[in-house]
Amino acid sequence: MNAKAFTSPLRVDFLILGSGAAGLLAAARLQRHGRVAIVSKGTTHDSNTWFAQGGIAGVLAADDSVENHVQDTLAAGAGLCRESVVREIIRRSGAIIRELIDIGTTFDTHGEALHLTREGGHSKRRIAHARDATGRAIARALQAQLGADVLRLCGYTAIDLITSHHIGDYSGPNRCLGCYLLAPNGQVLSVAARHTILATGGAGKVYLYTSNPHGASGDGIAMAWRAGCTIANMEFIQFHPTCLFHRDGSNLLLSEALRGEGAHIVDAQGRRFVFDYDPRGELAPRDIVARAIDHEMKKQGTDCMFLDARPLGEATIQRQFPNIQRSLQRLGLDLNRAPVPIVPAAHYTCGGIDTRLDGSTAIENLHAIGEVACSGLHGANRLASNSLLECLVMADCCAQTILSHPAPAPRHIPAWDDSGVEPEGERIPIKQNWEEIRATMSHYVGIVRSNERLRRAKRRLLLIQHEIDDYFWRHPVSRDLIELRNLAQVALLIVRSAQMRHESRGLHYSTDYPLTLPEARETLIPPAEESKT
Ligand code: SIN
Repeated sequence: MNAKAFTSPLRVDFLILGSGAAGLLAAARLQRHGRVAIVSKGTTHDSNTWFAQGGIAGVLAADDSVENHVQDTLAAGAGLCRESVVREIIRRSGAIIRELIDIGTTFDTHGEALHLTREGGHSKRRIAHARDATGRAIARALQAQLGADVLRLCGYTAIDLITSHHIGDYSGPNRCLGCYLLAPNGQVLSVAARHTILATGGAGKVYLYTSNPHGASGDGIAMAWRAGCTIANMEFIQFHPTCLFHRDGSNLLLSEALRGEGAHIVDAQGRRFVFDYDPRGELAPRDIVARAIDHEMKKQGTDCMFLDARPLGEATIQRQFPNIQRSLQRLGLDLNRAPVPIVPAAHYTCGGIDTRLDGSTAIENLHAIGEVACSGLHGANRLASNSLLECLVMADCCAQTILSHPAPAPRHIPAWDDSGVEPEGERIPIKQNWEEIRATMSHYVGIVRSNERLRRAKRRLLLIQHEIDDYFWRHPVSRDLIELRNLAQVALLIVRSAQMRHESRGLHYSTDYPLTLPEARETLIPPAEESKT
């Protein structure tokens, strides 16, 4: 169905923002129970899921157990996981992976069994994968589940959620009524929905180096914050240790599975330095490996370190990592020939909208699932390949909750108010502001933080945010401007959360507070705190 046939307000039962694994499974579960619209900013390929290489972790091997996987997840999470959520998600891992197989996901096999790979922090081989393009295989299988009645809105950008409080109805708790969408033709569409699901992914784009696709600008987190949700644990940004360092391929990830199968991290002299930091070497959890690389780069005054995949041998590289190898070869690099330059890059937002396992939020009929949410699975550091699992289990639970709590169709949905919009005048330099935010975050709020760096970042970001806010309501909206506004908001939430944590834990390391406090506490920013960020 083509969205151009609809005029504002568009009425649906279930509005799903984001078309990665979480959004797709939610759509598949809900499609027989009402009218579903699934929205992507770009094409259906522009999700973090589409780019996920390594795989999906689950309890699949005879020598593994739910308890082993739970313990590995809790250890990585450094005291901040919500244990009941961890247990429930991992308990369901086998069933959800079997369902993926049943709907046509072609995971690699070894004889009759699944081929399971290994990644940092896992005590067992437990990662099901489809060569080095697992996310794509899962997304394709899920997309094939969607019927023709599901409305696919590609090229639409969500601007803001519409809530009962937003339209001046304070007669009850805040309820989500839908959202405003910028259509590809520049019109703003009001969408009324019984239930709205945010499945918009993370915010890797707040950093200069990131493995995330362009659209990862934290839209869902920023919109939920503006609408009145609590935001949790935003200081925990996971940096993937091995992103390609190259002018023309800056967001190409070199999957952790390469290290799982035997690749080494070396400096320019070929020395495996990670063992100086942890006896597990390259297979220590990501925070440790990323900090080791960052530290060595600063100590040695270099721009990058290297990943040496030659120990794997050509046959393994060809069989398991054909896509990574092809992408590298296009840039004149080759895993079989020489170590490849790498740099740690922002990869995963562990914090997000504070939710339960089923994605429910502080706002009625608003749900958040997958990376946009902070369900409690990851705590202070996500265990590799747990995220696709979380997306799918949360989507499943979310659909169940929605179906058991029917919500009324919203009656009055106001049109987008563009009364203050002036004819196009001087444009704020959007590209320059994007770059300034990303540079500020990378230099001051990266892998290692300090009070002074955070103060400097906050000063700069507040200035940029005021400029953007002032501009936003006086000019026609565009995708770039919407993302810039969200990026600034999310950057400030990260800084604010980092300032609230007076210790080092998991992915958050501060030179002013190098120790871990005995009691682990979540960082919660309730909406009333907004004025302080
Ligand atoms: C990777 O392939 O290294 C990414 C896996 C993940 O982040 O879970």
